[in-house]
Amino acid sequence: MADLLRVENLSKSFALGGPLWNRRRVSAVNDVSLTVQRGRTLGLVGESGSGKSTLGRCILGLTKPDSGQVVFDGVEVQGLSGRALSDFRRRVQPVFQDPYGSLDPRWPVGRSVRESLDCFRIGTPADRDRRVLDLFDRVGLNPALASRLPTNLSGGQRQRVGIAAALASEPELIIADEPVSALDMSVQAQILNLLLDLQQDLRVASIFITHDLGVVEHVSHDVAVLFRGAIVETGDTDQVMQRPQHQYTRTLLAAVPRPR
Ligand SMILES: Nc1ncnc2c1ncn2[C@@H]1O[C@H](COP(=O)(O)OP(=O)(O)OP(=O)(O)O)[C@@H](O)[C@H]1O
Ligand SMILES: [Mg+2]
Repeated sequence: MADLLRVENLSKSFALGGPLWNRRRVSAVNDVSLTVQRGRTLGLVGESGSGKSTLGRCILGLTKPDSGQVVFDGVEVQGLSGRALSDFRRRVQPVFQDPYGSLDPRWPVGRSVRESLDCFRIGTPADRDRRVLDLFDRVGLNPALASRLPTNLSGGQRQRVGIAAALASEPELIIADEPVSALDMSVQAQILNLLLDLQQDLRVASIFITHDLGVVEHVSHDVAVLFRGAIVETGDTDQVMQRPQHQYTRTLLAAVPRPR
């Protein structure tokens, strides 16, 4: 089966500030290649600064890579414009750690979800309010919460709205960047279970970015371990968890608490 997403030899570096004679570049992503199949979840794991978010942003088209390619459903993403770009944005949706970033603080959260339906012209205008309520229901939110402002929701509720907004456009790929890291432990488990349900019901593919290998084990079919911008190990999640080949993966594994 053709890959839904293919990342080929992607690299991105940033110029560090400082005096002109002392400018350095930091390599954030270094020659990364990976693939995601339809309906599969790839866990992208690595410590802080390993380049996870930069890679995610390059895939979403929010950051321009220095070199390499992102190919979605057979089409290179760089260079898309107009209709084709809008279509790509509909099909590949982000979920961020802090949905405050994607929700307008002045708008009732239902309106933010509705905006996504309007933006991508999903359904008829008359249908869309109904769809907003269906989406709330889908992510386990009482539809009555649609009229609240983001500040009047709990962190977990806000993340559910963020997920509803991402699902509104009926995406084929979701890039979730640390979607549970800002939440309390018990709420983390609820949101992870929601993401698992969606994975099973909607068969949407995802890249799940986290620093926590324990979370990856829970939600991902495959895993790619990122160390200083490069993938050091990749494979089937169970296989990587049970027989890690790279020392860095073993270090990450050792940090995962295990029931005795
Ligand atoms: N806009 C930017 N300007 C300069 N340097 C950046 C920028 N974005 C990222 N970097 C640098 O690139 C490297 C990778 O950062 P990135 O945010 O991708 O890591 P991460 O794995 O997502 O980390 P975290 O787990 O803390 O979110 C870091 O050294 C970071 O300082
Ligand atoms: Mg990050």
